[in-house]
Amino acid sequence: MEELPQQDADLLRRAHEAARNAYAPYSKFKVGAAVRLANGSVVVGNNIENAAYPSGLCAERVTMFSAMAQFPGVPFEALALTAYSDSKLIDEPVAPCGACRQVMVEVEQLSKRPLRVLCQGDTGPVMVFDGIESLMPFIFLDKFL
Ligand code: THU
Repeated sequence: MEELPQQDADLLRRAHEAARNAYAPYSKFKVGAAVRLANGSVVVGNNIENAAYPSGLCAERVTMFSAMAQFPGVPFEALALTAYSDSKLIDEPVAPCGACRQVMVEVEQLSKRPLRVLCQGDTGPVMVFDGIESLMPFIFLDKFL
């Protein structure tokens, strides 16, 4: 954490706070996300589960969709992702699922700049990706449609 720029450390802290508020009674795996937008706004979110399991949604998509709804057209700069569990210590970075990576691709394209992605567990090392490309090779793009 020491080496991270202050605004990245702040974004991670917001993601950690959001993870505590996740509604994850089924998996008990609480994920928090925070995005920083080009206008300086930070939007947080977390995973929201449902008794009908597929009706739930990951923290990253809750957060990205919320940011797009609240700040239409404002570019994204960075997304921080963390996870917390009551039952075990998560000390390695949490990896975004494939569906969330697909949404990150479109967010990055709309933003016309690399999306900085910061991943951490509840503690431990932070993985930093400057752009979604290394997380998502051979991407499905709108040009195929
Ligand atoms: N989850 C996320 O929120 N983000 C991911 O990238 C992976 C998984 C959530 C979904 C579900 O509520 C719980 O973690 C267990 O899969």
